Amino acid sequence: MNFPTVKKVTTHVLAEMKLRGEKITMLTAYDYSMAKILDYAGIDVILVGDSASNVMAGYDTTLPITLDEMIYHGASVVRAVKRALVVVDLPFGTYQGNSKEALNSAIRIMKETGASAVKLEGGEEIKESIQRILSAGIPVMGHLGLTPQSIHKFGTYVVRARDDKEAQKLMNDAILLNELGCFAVVLEKIPAALAEKVTKSIKIPTIGIGAGKAVDGQVLVLHDMLGLTTEFSPRFLRRYHNLFEEIKKAVIQYIHDVKTMDFPNDKEQY
Ligand code: KIV
Repeated sequence: MNFPTVKKVTTHVLAEMKLRGEKITMLTAYDYSMAKILDYAGIDVILVGDSASNVMAGYDTTLPITLDEMIYHGASVVRAVKRALVVVDLPFGTYQGNSKEALNSAIRIMKETGASAVKLEGGEEIKESIQRILSAGIPVMGHLGLTPQSIHKFGTYVVRARDDKEAQKLMNDAILLNELGCFAVVLEKIPAALAEKVTKSIKIPTIGIGAGKAVDGQVLVLHDMLGLTTEFSPRFLRRYHNLFEEIKKAVIQYIHDVKTMDFPNDKEQY
């Protein structure tokens, strides 16, 4: 298999893509094998999301995953990737306490995974943490709107920033992240009109998930778009495959072949 000879995606490449109106593609990955496929396919950004807490570890929320676990997933992904920009989520509880702790968490991610950037959820509340991480030369991706690490504050996963007050705060936070020097911002589950307004108001790329088409790029959770997860069907999710059923079919066939002594056959032995 030939790897497409394309230059490595950097934060500068993403800035150029916004300037020329080329959409940015981002998907999550948490392991070597999947990350390799995404990279070969030509994805621009791979997010080692803390959604690993849900889809890899089976927790109900993103809160339980630890920094050590994120580092394990991040390093596995980085070993597979030649072209895409790899961004790793700072997990819940590793950056909100104080900016020194945030910097130490970000440094561990950069040193121990080899990733190129970190992502943090929030705006004004975590300003000092973002500043300190950026001042160490670590690129930061922001994340506004539905921020799953705050699910116990929201109480539900419904669309955020529908009312004027929350929409204005989101706009202020997006402008702040831009001014602080973040290189991009994820906008999750907000009205498309607001996402468009934010995208036009800031210079850094916006990457939407449930934020309409007038953003600079799109992100989905890999396991959702491949149909590996079945219980989660928000309106914004387009399923490109039904891998749960495909894999189940293959396993049923394997069980059948072993039980009936069809596998292994004469050619499949030594
Ligand atoms: O953790 C994650 O997968 C994310 C995406 C939903 C943006 O943050």
